Amino acid sequence: MASPSTFTTLALCFLMTTAVSFANKFNDEFDIIWGNDHAKYLDNGETVTLTLDSVTGSGFQSKSEFLYGKIDMQIKLVPGDSAGTVTAYYLKSEGTSWDEVDFEFLGNVSGDPYTMHTNVYCQGKGDREQQFHLWFDPTTDFHKYSILWNPKTIIFSVDDIAVREFKNMEFKGIPFPKSQPMRLYSSIWNADDWATRGGQVKTDWSKAPFITSYRNFSSDACVLSGGYNSCGSWMATKNWFSEVLDIQSREKMESVQNNFMIYNYCTDYQRFPQGLPQECYVSGP
Ligand SMILES: *[C@@H]1O[C@H](CO)[C@@H](O)[C@H](O)[C@H]1NC(C)=O
Repeated sequence: MASPSTFTTLALCFLMTTAVSFANKFNDEFDIIWGNDHAKYLDNGETVTLTLDSVTGSGFQSKSEFLYGKIDMQIKLVPGDSAGTVTAYYLKSEGTSWDEVDFEFLGNVSGDPYTMHTNVYCQGKGDREQQFHLWFDPTTDFHKYSILWNPKTIIFSVDDIAVREFKNMEFKGIPFPKSQPMRLYSSIWNADDWATRGGQVKTDWSKAPFITSYRNFSSDACVLSGGYNSCGSWMATKNWFSEVLDIQSREKMESVQNNFMIYNYCTDYQRFPQGLPQECYVSGP
């Protein structure tokens, strides 16, 4: 007969396993906040799909707020004709002076490339767009889109390749997100007034529903529950907390930018006739 302590151990093991396997499930991490019946959990809750049709789009947000961290998600974008649709995937804090780190995926007609749009807002001010085409078709398979955010830098990566870095340049008086916790959001909506070829191509509703899929969310981040101070010592043990791009990753990033970047606010002299934003002049590691 099992002794009470064996029983307790077994029960504990069971509880721990459950916690681990449930930790991967989307509805433990996220709340659907828009278009309820247009968001669906598949594969036993491991995958979620967001749908846009002529009735509504849909979206989710993380239950947790993060202050610094490493966030990964695998996303498969709308296959076929996705013109006019936008899938957004971003970190954002609350309030009128918010911080935000954005990926937005702008659809296209069949066969034409998706545009990956990125932006960084500090204290409510963005205007830091960089856009890319991707080196693969993002609609045929899942790919990993990551944000690393620490006190020194913000790095956007695709399949573990850095594509953009926004460094902390507070020493030049440029604000940097560092005190406002952010939630992770994703949504799909109709933006055919601007998204595809500057709004020239409209959403073809006969091709609806438009569906984006998500899986394998992971976060190694300071989750705010007991206030900022609870994070400090824990974060200091994390490699990513002081990580900056090494030379090889930087070279790879520059090569991606040379080959796949289609818009960079830092070279848009027409848009900034009075001079480019300050951060555009900072170079080197
Ligand atoms: C759509 O395809 C055209 C033609 O290749 C390209 O110029 C554009 O950047 C693509 N993306 C969007 C969102 O329009």
